[in-house]
Amino acid sequence: MNMESKTPPSSGNSPAPSIQKVTVVGCGTMGNGIAQVFATCGYQVELVDLSAPALEKAMTTIARNLDRVVAKGSLDQESRDAALARIHTSTSLATAAQHADLVVEAATENRQIKLELFRQLDQLCPPTCILATNTSSISITDIAGATGRPTRVIGMHFMNPVPVMKLVEIIKGYNTDPAVTATIVEVSRHLGKIPVEANDYPGFVANRILMPMINEAVHTLYEGVAGVAEIDTVMKLGMAHPMGPLQLADFIGLDVCLAILRVLHEGFGQPKYAPCPLLVKMVSSGNLGVKTGKGFYAYQAGSKDLVVAPEFSGSL
Ligand SMILES: NC(=O)c1ccc[n+]([C@@H]2O[C@H](COP(=O)([O-])OP(=O)(O)OC[C@H]3O[C@@H](n4cnc5c(N)ncnc54)[C@H](O)[C@@H]3O)[C@@H](O)[C@H]2O)c1
Repeated sequence: MNMESKTPPSSGNSPAPSIQKVTVVGCGTMGNGIAQVFATCGYQVELVDLSAPALEKAMTTIARNLDRVVAKGSLDQESRDAALARIHTSTSLATAAQHADLVVEAATENRQIKLELFRQLDQLCPPTCILATNTSSISITDIAGATGRPTRVIGMHFMNPVPVMKLVEIIKGYNTDPAVTATIVEVSRHLGKIPVEANDYPGFVANRILMPMINEAVHTLYEGVAGVAEIDTVMKLGMAHPMGPLQLADFIGLDVCLAILRVLHEGFGQPKYAPCPLLVKMVSSGNLGVKTGKGFYAYQAGSKDLVVAPEFSGSL
């Protein structure tokens, strides 16, 4: 998938007025893209992660993605250098959060990790700071409850890959102040994105619809109805999806898909959301998709060929 970005039309290298300094927590698949988009649009970005090597890798990824945008002629070299210079990395949450106007948390999809992070962020950030989470499924109201400022907590759900995808799903917690929602809508538009508001129920809109489809695709494979390539081809050519559901699951991360399905299953209490045993087994085995080099497909560094993983390549 194309990881490049265009300079958003609204950027002009000056941030939306009420927000100047943004702290992004977590520099994995989503965090580095979120940092790139904010920095390209003129915001000062503090990118924080527990892992120093992960931060180094994230900066290499961002530099490489910006180089591609320059090569395409969508960004000049000076703007690229300025964007990179606006991103500072740190392994200290206290240092990274102390002056933030906005925090976008993109750490691992785990309820306990997020509750603890928000408890700390509430202590470390200025009282006016808005605390946003990029969670795919965990309740915003629940996360807000870990802070003393539930009116200033909101979901800001970017899509993967962040520099390319236009949508930001904005999720209002039970106590989110409408003025905070309005600010996040404004910031999203300023990033060149299209915000869509949703209320806080498990999976919000995007994953409530997407994850049952991915889970059904895994069941279709598990029951031997068709192979990996066949299932993806049916959905690409028959339903005009740009990517088949199994390839998309690999791209999102099978661990992330499983975590979201568990939130849907628990949150609604309905068996239709129960994760397919094959998905559970693949996550237990460490085959998480693109990020580990193997999921439903096998990935070779530097190759764009889509090769079905050996365990699924035999005949049905
Ligand atoms: N992967 C996707 O396609 C996708 C899409 C939309 C939203 N999301 C959501 O974005 C968030 C991040 O997902 P991801 O796919 O980037 O995960 P990832 O596993 O690629 O990266 C998570 C990062 O968070 C870091 N981290 C964990 N605990 C931390 C802490 N306490 N402080 C600082 N850093 C910490 C990890 O070291 C890691 O670098 C999740 O909430 C996920 O549901 C993911």
